[in-house]
Amino acid sequence: MPTDFDTTTVEFDEETGVGHLTLNRPDAMNALSSQLSEDIVAGLRALNDHNDDGVDMCVVVVEGAGGNFCAGADINEFSEGPPTTEVDRSHYRFIQEYPLPVIAKIRGYCLGGGLETAMSCDFRIADTDARFGLPEVNLGIIPGAGGVQLISRLANPSVAKEIAMTGKHLPAERGAELGIFNDVHAPDELDDAVDEFAETLASKPPLSIQAIKKSATMATQTGLREGIEYDADTFKPLLATEDHQEGVRAFAEDDYEPEFQGK
Ligand code: COA
Repeated sequence: MPTDFDTTTVEFDEETGVGHLTLNRPDAMNALSSQLSEDIVAGLRALNDHNDDGVDMCVVVVEGAGGNFCAGADINEFSEGPPTTEVDRSHYRFIQEYPLPVIAKIRGYCLGGGLETAMSCDFRIADTDARFGLPEVNLGIIPGAGGVQLISRLANPSVAKEIAMTGKHLPAERGAELGIFNDVHAPDELDDAVDEFAETLASKPPLSIQAIKKSATMATQTGLREGIEYDADTFKPLLATEDHQEGVRAFAEDDYEPEFQGK
């Protein structure tokens, strides 16, 4: 059953273990009003609440209603003064620290805060008509939620400077070449490609998936030695999980697909 917030809709598919969150301000190209930002957090929280009694929901797909992912921060709110939400309590940080993997499914425009939202997700999969960029320079500001930092890590600092200093819109295929997007598909193939990828992630042992997300985040934030020690510490308790036993049993018996429970 879908749950409506003011500006987002969330839906959980019990059969696949995939949750869906839709940015729902299509008349404004899903521009990020402060309400939309709050609703993204509330929607993701509601989806993860399904996991109170174990891990049923394993992955979330975020997309925009009306043919665009998101055209950035709501420029109409700029006249009301600087954003009141600090970056460490923003939806960007919430997605980055969300325990489950989040896939951004991108059609149409993915600009400014929309691109920062997508880059806060774990994966970005777009259709060939999608266009992305950081146009804030044209408003005499910079991307305020880490856009330059995030592109610098996904691609490199020179690419980040080019995109942020020119403010130009680039085609999704260029994003894939640069490593900013994971994959690009023909528009009529995007839904199936994202479903297939999400369901693949959802079929894996959830505790491993969550641990890998944390490890990859650590890789961008710590030194190599500290990161490797973190992985070694995370690895040991996973050896004691039922899902580890299930994976080993399925490998040894070689005649059935393992079913993981998140335990
Ligand atoms: N904030 C608020 N409203 C926005 C918006 C934004 N970031 N981006 C688009 N919209 C609104 C427009 O005001 C317009 O609303 P209206 O129909 O009530 O006038 C509607 O969305 C459609 O946008 P429009 O500009 O008419 O469409 P377009 O196809 O000509 O251009 C864009 C699309 C995305 C290129 C253009 O809207 C744009 O440049 N938006 C701003 C992008 C930006 O600078 N983002 C970073 C902000 S920091």
